[in-house]
Amino acid sequence: MNLTPKEIVEYLDKYVISQKDAKKTIALALRTRYRRMQLSQEFQDEIMPKNILMIGSTGVGKTEISRRLANMMKVPFIKVEASKYTEVGFVGRDVESMVRDLVVNAINLVKAEQEETNKDKIENYIVNKIVEKLLPPLPEQASQEKKDDYAKILKSMEEKVINGEMDDKIISIEFDKINIEFNDTNLPPEMAKVQESFSKIFTAMNKEDNKKEMSVKDAKSLLKNEATSKLLNMTNIHAEALRRAEDGGIIFLDEIDKIAISSKSQGRNDPSKEGVQRDLLPIVEGSSVTTKYGVVNTDHILFIAAGAFHLTKPSDLIPELQGRFPLRVELESLTEETLYKILTQTKNSLLTQYKALLGVEGVNLIFEDEAIKAIAKVSHRANEVTEDIGARRLHTVLEKVLEEISFNADEHKNEDFVITAEFVHEKLDIIVEDNDLSRYIL
Ligand SMILES: Nc1ncnc2c1ncn2[C@@H]1O[C@H](COP(=O)(O)OP(=O)(O)OP(=O)(O)O)[C@@H](O)[C@H]1O
Ligand SMILES: [Mg+2]
Repeated sequence: MNLTPKEIVEYLDKYVISQKDAKKTIALALRTRYRRMQLSQEFQDEIMPKNILMIGSTGVGKTEISRRLANMMKVPFIKVEASKYTEVGFVGRDVESMVRDLVVNAINLVKAEQEETNKDKIENYIVNKIVEKLLPPLPEQASQEKKDDYAKILKSMEEKVINGEMDDKIISIEFDKINIEFNDTNLPPEMAKVQESFSKIFTAMNKEDNKKEMSVKDAKSLLKNEATSKLLNMTNIHAEALRRAEDGGIIFLDEIDKIAISSKSQGRNDPSKEGVQRDLLPIVEGSSVTTKYGVVNTDHILFIAAGAFHLTKPSDLIPELQGRFPLRVELESLTEETLYKILTQTKNSLLTQYKALLGVEGVNLIFEDEAIKAIAKVSHRANEVTEDIGARRLHTVLEKVLEEISFNADEHKNEDFVITAEFVHEKLDIIVEDNDLSRYIL
C-alpha cells in the first residue's frame, strides 16, 4: 500500500505500454491517499481525493490500468459501467448500489485476508470433520497399544485427506446450517434485511436436510464455508471492510461518455441520462450511503471515470459533474511500435498465451521477431483503414494468423512451428488490402 508513485508506475509498466501521463496521474492520486492517512484526523477530513477522468479511444488501456492497479494495491475496487444505471425512481439499478457493491468487494477482500491468516485453523477444522467420518472412533476401553496404533492411522489418514488421496471416497456428512449471504446490492438495505430474515426462517424450518452424501472433494469445498463462518469473526470483518471502503476504496466508472448528452444530436438522447449524472453528483462529492453492513461515507472514495468520448465530449457532461473530476488525462492512441511492445514486453502477453495454449498440444510455437513486427504493422494498418480499436485489434489479427495451426495442432505434435514474416503476410495481406473484407474479418 505504501508504494511510491515511481514504484506504482514501474509495476504498471509491466502490463501497460506507454500511457505515461495516465499512469503518473493515477499513481500520484494513490500516493496522496497514503500521505493523507499519515496525517492527523483533522487534516484527513479536510483533504478530499481528486477524482480522475481518463479520456482515450477504445482499447488503449484505460480499463487495463485500473484493473492492474486494483490487483496490486489490494484495496477495495470495483469497475462499473455508468451506462447501466438508471435515474432514481426508474426501474433499474440506482447509482447508490455501486457503493454497496464496493462494500461487498471490501468484505471479500478482508475475508480473503483473514482466511489466509487462519489457513491452518480452517484446514484443521475441515480435515478433522472429514477424518471423523472416514475413521470410526475407538471405544473408550481400548488398550493403550490399540490407542497408539489408532493415533498412527489417524495421522496417516489426515495426510491422505490433505493431499487428496481420499478425494473420491463418498462420505455422509452433516453440515451446520449456514445462512447464505444475500448480496443483491440493488435492494435498499431494509429490503435486503427482510429478505435475509425470510431466508433464515426457511433454513430453520427445513431441519432434516443437512445430512448429505458426497465425495470428500466436494465436502472439502462445502466445509470451507462452514469453517470460515465458524472461525472468523464476521462482525469484525464487516467493520473493517466498511472502514477500508471509505478510506481506500476506488470506484472505476467506465463508459462515462455514454451518459453524456451530445449537444449535436439532441433528438435521440435519452433524458434519463442527465438524471443519472445528477444522481452521481452527491456520491462523487461525498454523501452517506446506507448499506446492509452500515453507513458508508463516500467523501474519500476515489472515482476514476473513463470514456472514449467519440460521440460526446467531456464538456457534454453537466457542469457540476465535470467539476468533480478535476484531473484529466488523455491516453494516446497506439502506434505500430506500441503495438509491437504490447506483444513483446508485457507480462503474460498474447504471444505467451498462445504459446502456452499450443504447448498443451505439444506444438512449440515460435514467433520470429520480423513476424511480430509484421503483426504489429498489419494491426496498426487495420486500425487505420477501419475502426481504431486499439490493442484489441491484436486479438483478431493473431487469431487469424494462428487459426489454421490452432485447428490442426494434432498434426504438428512435438514439432517446432515457426511463424515467419512471410507466413503472417500470406495470411493477412489479402484481407487488409480489401477494405470490405477487413471490416468483417479483422
Ligand atoms: N497500452 C497498453 N499496453 C498493454 N496492453 C494494452 C494497452 N492498451 C490496451 N491493451 C490491451 O487491450 C485490451 C483492451 O484494453 P482496455 O480494456 O484497457 O481498453 P479500454 O481503453 O478500456 O477500452 P474501452 O474504451 O473499449 O473500454 C486489453 O486486453 C489490454 O491488455
Ligand atoms: Mg474499458
